[in-house]
Amino acid sequence: TLAFFNGEFLPTDSLVIPIDERGHQFGDGVYEVIKIYDGTPFLMREHLVRLENSAKAIRLEMPYSIERFEELIQEGLTRAQLRDAQVYVQITRGIATRLHSFPDVPPSTSMTFRPSKSLTEETFNTGIKVALLEDERWYNCYIKSLNLLPNILAKQAAADRGCFEAVLVRDGYITEGSSTNTYAVKDGVVYTHPANKRILNGITRAAVLQVAQESGIEVREEAFTSEFLLAADEAFLTSTTAEVLAITHVDDTVIGTGTPGPVVRQLHAKFRKLIG
Ligand code: PDD
Repeated sequence: TLAFFNGEFLPTDSLVIPIDERGHQFGDGVYEVIKIYDGTPFLMREHLVRLENSAKAIRLEMPYSIERFEELIQEGLTRAQLRDAQVYVQITRGIATRLHSFPDVPPSTSMTFRPSKSLTEETFNTGIKVALLEDERWYNCYIKSLNLLPNILAKQAAADRGCFEAVLVRDGYITEGSSTNTYAVKDGVVYTHPANKRILNGITRAAVLQVAQESGIEVREEAFTSEFLLAADEAFLTSTTAEVLAITHVDDTVIGTGTPGPVVRQLHAKFRKLIG
């Protein structure tokens, strides 16, 4: 597979990052994951705008304009000859002798271009199990930061229990998943945590909420408790890689009928139409 670092495209295996790269030493950067369906990047502009907002939030200058990023991504896809892919884009505060305060060096850009590892249709049809875990992250979860240690630990704890995802709870309220946004459906209304500093404002989330509104499904961007989730008629999660995925079990509790419900199925079908 193909990768990119600071202006150069190289095979992923031969690309080496300097030891003093700040992404490596400090996690001092931000990132995006963009999915490519049949040669077309999906919601790429939205992802790059969020990258720019994440960069601004950590006082990092964008190495390229959004338009230039779009060109580089297209070039990478052409070089890698990929039609169904996922592109990882990361920008950091550059390469400099290790010192916490900001160095006076240009930012770095890394990208990888890989075949997409999509979920099987069977997974969408059966739904998945999640584990509830304490949200131990910081208070700026709206930034798509490279610092993912709490997310990784939660995801692994969930995996150790045979779960697909960790759903995070802060002060009794569900925030989001370790790498997904979380939703509960009760009496036909879709509930999800408001897009404030406690969650990442998912690009898929925005698209799905739009689809729901266009379908006449009421959406309430309100935090809900873990008890509310356990008693929901349906639950689901969203992300660039997981699309719209039914949650059928939360730890040992069965959600609704234990199969993907009508609201989740309708939202996923309509979301797929957006993709083309
Ligand atoms: N994760 N919440 C968190 C904490 C995330 O890391 C992600 C994305 C989402 C969903 O956002 P979007 O719909 O824009 O993908 C929500 C990516 C896919 C990742 O880290 O791999």
